[in-house]
Amino acid sequence: MKVDVLLGLQWGDEGKGKIVDVLTPNYNIIARFQGGPNAGHTLEFDGIKHVLHTIPSGIFRKNTMNIIGNGVVIDPIILSKEIETIEKLNVDVRNNLVISKKAHLILPTHRLLDAASEASKGKEKIGSTLKGIGPTYMDKTGRNGLRVGDLLSDNFMSKYTSLVNKHKQLLMFYEYSYQLEQIEFEWFESIEILKKIPHVDSEIYLNQAIHSNKSILAEGAQGSLLDIDFGTYPFVTSSNTTCAGACTGLGIAPGNIGKVIGIFKAYCTRVGSGPFPTELNDNTGEQMRKIGNEFGATTGRARRCGWLDLPALKYAVMINGATELVMMKADVLSHFDKIKVCTGYKQGDKVYTHFPYEYDANNYTPIYTELPGWNKDLTGITAESDFPEALINYISFIENELKVPISIVSVGPNRNQTIIRKK
Ligand code: GDP
Ligand code: IMO
Ligand code: MG
Repeated sequence: MKVDVLLGLQWGDEGKGKIVDVLTPNYNIIARFQGGPNAGHTLEFDGIKHVLHTIPSGIFRKNTMNIIGNGVVIDPIILSKEIETIEKLNVDVRNNLVISKKAHLILPTHRLLDAASEASKGKEKIGSTLKGIGPTYMDKTGRNGLRVGDLLSDNFMSKYTSLVNKHKQLLMFYEYSYQLEQIEFEWFESIEILKKIPHVDSEIYLNQAIHSNKSILAEGAQGSLLDIDFGTYPFVTSSNTTCAGACTGLGIAPGNIGKVIGIFKAYCTRVGSGPFPTELNDNTGEQMRKIGNEFGATTGRARRCGWLDLPALKYAVMINGATELVMMKADVLSHFDKIKVCTGYKQGDKVYTHFPYEYDANNYTPIYTELPGWNKDLTGITAESDFPEALINYISFIENELKVPISIVSVGPNRNQTIIRKK
């Protein structure tokens, strides 16, 4: 069977974790393809809330194999804590999780380098999650990195020491002061836990699964506008968050990709620095943050909020070849009388219908279409037939603009608050 891909179309935190958990009963395997513990994927069911950083969001469903692919970067400290937390809930992690030998390791010094680099940038900082993501991917492409498969090799310690010594030189360049001993101690303790999870050639595992007709869902992290190539560079993450990343991050041929499920919030949020044309620095934005509980799942930082940005969404749909869409957090917009949607940007006489290369908030203004709000609580709705008229209009407006169907609408954080639409 072909591999379906689920990924974020905005700046991350669209609700990928929730929807992967909802869709998991349809799949034999869930495979994360990029990013690392910069991700925070929230799942809510049976009155409990879980935040996953590295483990795929299929882990809570029985009889599902979860794979951390070669494109992911792993911090052993964070992953081992995740494993311990989930095991306490009686989830059989050890039999339902495997890790690619080719996934790269985040070292304690990668985290220090991330912090040092951000500190050196001052006001220009990316707003990184400080999990060491950028420096780890730099070592990967610089061909210096350490991989999961190295953990069991005889010369692991010499490889580790040589890389750490390089990092120490760099930290001297940044004039960054640090304490390494404690975190290094924890790191070495936690790789012992990592060694107990099977290390596999995940690309071979997945291709064999494809040929034996197993169903696979690839889970993205971050969002398309944070993609290293197509996002709002340099305010991006360091991996390909778009569909092509599923091919390189799992070893799947493009011809084996099936559905591409693009997920977006009914409005927009962004955490960290960088352009955000429809950002609302007013009461409306504040209200969205409050009602939507828009605080980062990984860092707790307040998320910037604003109206839906259709040109940016269209661009993400194009880059990913999205075949269907999922609209999240429709319930949050229930509290607004009028809902705005950005359909373009204006700079002087020029109108742009895509995100301009040189976008600058001072020179560009969003062009809005205003739609009526529905002023109705959606959180208890269980069928599409109960959608208020104004919500149906909002959905149709977006579908008409994007030319891709919205197959799922989410009306609350819980697993059950999910409406699968009729075709
Ligand atoms: P992810 O990184 O894409 O998995 O998304 P996050 O977990 O970082 O952020 C999504 C947040 O929205 C989480 O707190 C979810 O519990 C919550 N959430 C998901 N879907 C809905 C929804 O339809 N309505 C509301 N109100 N909250 C939602
Ligand atoms: P999920 O998977 C939202 C943002 C950071 C920062 C930029 C670079 O939960 O959607 P990094 O640590 O990757 O070097 O940070 O990217 N960022 C995210 N924003 N959701 C995420 O993941 C993110 N992962 C990184 O805030 O602006
Ligand atoms: Mg998140």
